Amino acid sequence: MQGIKILSVAGIHPSKKVTNDDMSRIVETDDEWIRTRTGIQSRYFCEDGESCVSMAIEASSKALERSGISKEDIGCVICATISGDYATPSVACLVQQALGLPEDIPVLDVNAACSGFIYALCVGRGLLEGGGKKYGLVIGMEQLSRLLDMTDRTTCVLFGDGGGAAVIEKDEEALFRQVLGARGGKEISCLGAGNDESFVQMDGKAVFRFAVWAMPKCIDDLLAINDGNSITLSDIDHVVCHQANSRIIDHVVKKSKEDPSKFYKNLDHFGNTSAGSIPLALSELYESGQLKKGNKLILVGFGAGLTWGGVMISFEGGKA
Ligand code: ACO
Repeated sequence: MQGIKILSVAGIHPSKKVTNDDMSRIVETDDEWIRTRTGIQSRYFCEDGESCVSMAIEASSKALERSGISKEDIGCVICATISGDYATPSVACLVQQALGLPEDIPVLDVNAACSGFIYALCVGRGLLEGGGKKYGLVIGMEQLSRLLDMTDRTTCVLFGDGGGAAVIEKDEEALFRQVLGARGGKEISCLGAGNDESFVQMDGKAVFRFAVWAMPKCIDDLLAINDGNSITLSDIDHVVCHQANSRIIDHVVKKSKEDPSKFYKNLDHFGNTSAGSIPLALSELYESGQLKKGNKLILVGFGAGLTWGGVMISFEGGKA
């Protein structure tokens, strides 16, 4: 299988910060409940002029700049999202238009909920393999605040807006492994589209049970893939999990028996940004100097669908 690597990454969040105390003025909740059950202390919500598309454009522009490649060399644009501004045109198409990206390439959105960015990387890999160009733009972006029932305290305190974009490069030699799966059904988590279920609903406990099964399974399955390279978790520089709940990530760490500092967490200040959470975390790691050229990564997520996925991939740093 042809490999890919991440050349650059850039994250974004809206300007309005919403603390747990702010949420307690909207629904009957309190900072202590939210912090102890989830690890979340604040999140960002879009205001006028900010949206999934506007954030996707800004993050993509920055990721392209950091990559050092010419936009003419982009061979696909994929956005993982469940909260695009329109059902159509896709977020990816509006990014293409705004940034003047090539026309002779596939441009589409992917819906795999919180596993979306992982799925989008894998779709991007496949499209680059089948196409003539070397680079792809893969985005994970959400504006979930407009899809939350702000009277339902069991869901509205958990989510936030934001995400990021990555430029990927196809490379025959690159380390790349993928594990994807789904168990279709709307019983555990569901978001309708224009009907009376058009806000996020979920069975929190069932999602929790699913998550602590799915993420360790993805990591184990990735490590077990036989591609001629012998790789253990100690060879991996960062494991970036979907940021839904601090306690879920703690379970994954405990099962792995690895150093907890290898498992990045930033949901304390972003909440769950669904498909946006992994690129947002990667961008923070990069900006703080912790994500370095040549680092080996495991990215792993779970989401509504139900879906799950993980990739083993390396970070290249820009060409500039
Ligand atoms: N503030 C105060 N009290 C609350 C709140 C709140 N925001 N929300 C619920 N409660 C109450 C409940 O009503 C319940 O009260 P009761 O005992 O009187 O009935 C009590 O707190 C305990 O509620 P539980 O649901 O049992 O709390 P739990 O410990 O399971 O935590 C949580 C809930 C945080 C949602 C947890 O189950 C979780 O994180 N699950 C995973 C959710 C997730 O990751 N979703 C990601 C979306 S991806 C997808 O959807 C597939």
